[in-house]
Amino acid sequence: MSFQNQVVWVTGASAGIGEALARAFARAGARLVLSARNEAELQRVAACTPAETLVVPLDLADAASLPAKVQLVLAHFGRLDVLVNNGGVSQRSLALETSLEVDRRLMEVNYFGTVALSKAVLPQLLAQGSGRIVTISSLVGKFGTPYRSAYAASKHALHGFFDSLRAELHGSGVGITILCPGFIRTGVSVNALTGDGRALGTMDEATEQGLAPAEFARRALPLIARGENEAYIGGRETLGVFLKRFAPGLFARFLTRAKVR
Ligand SMILES: NC(=O)c1ccc[n+]([C@@H]2O[C@H](COP(=O)([O-])OP(=O)(O)OC[C@H]3O[C@@H](n4cnc5c(N)ncnc54)[C@H](OP(=O)(O)O)[C@@H]3O)[C@@H](O)[C@H]2O)c1
Repeated sequence: MSFQNQVVWVTGASAGIGEALARAFARAGARLVLSARNEAELQRVAACTPAETLVVPLDLADAASLPAKVQLVLAHFGRLDVLVNNGGVSQRSLALETSLEVDRRLMEVNYFGTVALSKAVLPQLLAQGSGRIVTISSLVGKFGTPYRSAYAASKHALHGFFDSLRAELHGSGVGITILCPGFIRTGVSVNALTGDGRALGTMDEATEQGLAPAEFARRALPLIARGENEAYIGGRETLGVFLKRFAPGLFARFLTRAKVR
């Protein structure tokens, strides 16, 4: 599997899954564009990779700013082969205790930011007649769990959007891959929003015991290279996707007892 000389743009590359993906793509020969809000952390990741790397700080909540970021990338590399929509934020709060501002914030970052960036790169990919948009959803993009109402909604919305887009792009040379992580050992719960918009600030037990981000990346790259439509990466929690499909009543009962925050 090789991404030799391909231009791969990873959002959320300042930490966690995005950093691990960036390192794995660099090892596979890619040239990198690294994006997130924290420029110092992006520079740290860039300094750790041997790849030709362009750092493009951006805020996914500011959708109007994203087309100009695409122009920066194209001015530097002249093309784009893979966009990995990985940047995102999670939630740890009951629906009833979550302000509508937090619901909107999660949609702005996880859904509208991702959609806006994808739409901004699409004309270039279509002109090339090749490319792939990879979106990091979540198992919670396949089934809602307690404490994740707005996060689950934002991730479910991505599936609707990208399933439609995949069908529309058929025959264009541009593909869509959706990857759904289970529990991956990152700062996702530390950074997750609580009901009033403040970060949770602590590590979940399930996240702590999850897959290493490097292992996620090791499994993800071949799936992307093969052009898979959708895949689930994690431990036994990935079985939830199949339980929901084939035993929905049983699964709904199981979720009422779910202790995982
Ligand atoms: N870890 C898991 O268990 C898990 C499970 C399912 C899905 N996921 C998904 O995996 C993706 C990566 O999460 P992670 O686990 O690596 O968590 P993380 O360590 O918190 O990383 C999140 C990344 O997203 C970036 N980000 C957050 N808000 C942003 C914004 N407004 N604009 C631009 N970038 C932003 C962060 O960078 P800055 O703060 O520098 O902007 C950071 O690089 C997310 O989409 C998450 O929903 C993770």
